[in-house]
Amino acid sequence: MHHFHPLKTIKVAKETNDSVNIAFEIPQNLRHKFSFKQGQYLNVRFVFGEEDLRRSYSIVNAPTEGNTSLEILVKHLENGKVSTFLNENLKSGDIVEVSAPMGHFYTHYHPSNEKTYVGIAAGSGISPVLSNLKEALYQEPKSKAYLFFSNKSLNDIIFKKEIDELVHKFEGRLQVIYLLSREKHFEDELFEGRISAKKLNLLLEKFTDIPTQEATYFICGPAEMIKEVAEFLKNDKKVPSLQIMYEYYAAPDEDENAEMSDEFKAIPNIESMVTLIIDDDEYSFHLNSKKKSILDQALNDKLPVPFACKGGVCCTCKAQVMEGEVFMEKNFALTEDEVARGFVLTCQCHPTTNVVMLSYDV
Ligand code: FES
Repeated sequence: MHHFHPLKTIKVAKETNDSVNIAFEIPQNLRHKFSFKQGQYLNVRFVFGEEDLRRSYSIVNAPTEGNTSLEILVKHLENGKVSTFLNENLKSGDIVEVSAPMGHFYTHYHPSNEKTYVGIAAGSGISPVLSNLKEALYQEPKSKAYLFFSNKSLNDIIFKKEIDELVHKFEGRLQVIYLLSREKHFEDELFEGRISAKKLNLLLEKFTDIPTQEATYFICGPAEMIKEVAEFLKNDKKVPSLQIMYEYYAAPDEDENAEMSDEFKAIPNIESMVTLIIDDDEYSFHLNSKKKSILDQALNDKLPVPFACKGGVCCTCKAQVMEGEVFMEKNFALTEDEVARGFVLTCQCHPTTNVVMLSYDV
């Protein structure tokens, strides 16, 4: 289970007009809990009146940079209560409830490797990509990295100062190409607009010097970009799936009024007895398969279930099916292997058998 810990903010700095860079101090007694892998994320929790709001933010640091503090980047979203608070009200020294790092947007590095890593990021999608590229460069002296990074305008380039310093620090091993989607700044049209499959093809041809299928790719940004680029690499460039890593920061379909999928319509309409195991305690409730998700019903019943995005993206609500069967509406977070082992995202799950038991203690 994922518990929240009160952490002190030791840096709250405007990064661009609409984003803020926040660093949390990790006290000595929590360092083992907050040890992390490159590309992982944290959840933060805020209670505003009756609302218990949680959000996931990727860690910007690389593990090699140390474990005394962790940084995140929070982009201000219109109507986003948490992102507005963090951008406009949070001050250095404030305490925020933060959960331990999680997620699996990373690969393993080894000093003897001589590899090529390609980061493809847009806007705040830079955080987990940067974390991975930094760790690769620190851990693997013979490897090199490319970063194709798209932002709206020059002033919107997130972490530009740090990235430019890294280019200098890892001279000859890190090449960064900035693209601007809403500002004409460069002479070459290649650096204008968003990153599409076509543009990526041109960028790879122009800047990289190894066959496309030999590199490992880290992709994070808008869902449409991730889908297009990942499919292009897999289908057109024949890059093995294990070398294409991507992280969604929002579900591709966030339309709350979206139609129920045909698969969801097809599940049986049954009443189920759902039992949840949470920190060794068992909680049971009745749930109709066509109504709320298992997570929503558990929250309705005020059970201590972990959650953050509620959109099938962050993996915080992960549990394992111990008995019965469930239907999972969306999954942008679990690997095929995890699904095969019975893991599910409870924010997306509906029971499809009369008895269902899920464990969060896994
Ligand atoms: S709460 Fe994020 S995937 Fe379920």
